[in-house]
Amino acid sequence: MDNKKLAGEKAVEYVTDGMFLGLGTGSTVYWTILKLAELVKRGLDIKGVPTSKNTEKLAKELGIPLVSLSSINHLDLTIDGADEVNPNLELIKGGGGALLREKMVASISESLIIIIDESKYVTNLGEFPLPVEIVQFGWEITSNQISRLGCNPKLRIKDNSPFITDNGNYILDCYFEKIQDAYKLNGTLNMIPGVVENGLFVNMADTIVIGNKNATIDIS
Ligand code: 5RP
Repeated sequence: MDNKKLAGEKAVEYVTDGMFLGLGTGSTVYWTILKLAELVKRGLDIKGVPTSKNTEKLAKELGIPLVSLSSINHLDLTIDGADEVNPNLELIKGGGGALLREKMVASISESLIIIIDESKYVTNLGEFPLPVEIVQFGWEITSNQISRLGCNPKLRIKDNSPFITDNGNYILDCYFEKIQDAYKLNGTLNMIPGVVENGLFVNMADTIVIGNKNATIDIS
């Protein structure tokens, strides 16, 4: 079976009746959402907060009850994907461009479960370019300042135009090669004027569910 599907479906075992759930974004969480919808049809009572317009659309189509982030201040659990995870459970997220909403939702979640296929479990973060969401105004200046941290930032392009996030911002994909201190870099990046948020999730994930050769491994 597809490793993303394995991990995505396995995470649903952590969901219990009455939970308020953060619904992540991407092709791994897709399987979680499908499974959740099945359970909702059979009577599971949950309310979801989507982390992107794509997830909102999918969850609505499948009949998962949704609430807005503004109407609550606590979530029981968020299930989301990632682009890289290291053994300290530090993450790079934002390959799908939803990192800001994902981080906001994760920040009010009692528990964050990350679902990945085994290729994303790495010794060092940084081979995957770090997505940084920035405002459009003066983006070249912001990019320049970020490059001084030792990376090569590239404006994300989709269909020959700059990729625009759900929040109306740009994304810089920053090629660091190796990130030694994710905690420090997270803070440093977010101090740069023009940076809205970056894709490093530090001290946020509680459990990683890895899909691997017809089985899953849970790391907490
Ligand atoms: C979106 C994300 C995704 O969770 C991440 O890119 C993983 O996606 P996929 O499950 O499709 O591999 O952070 O902003």
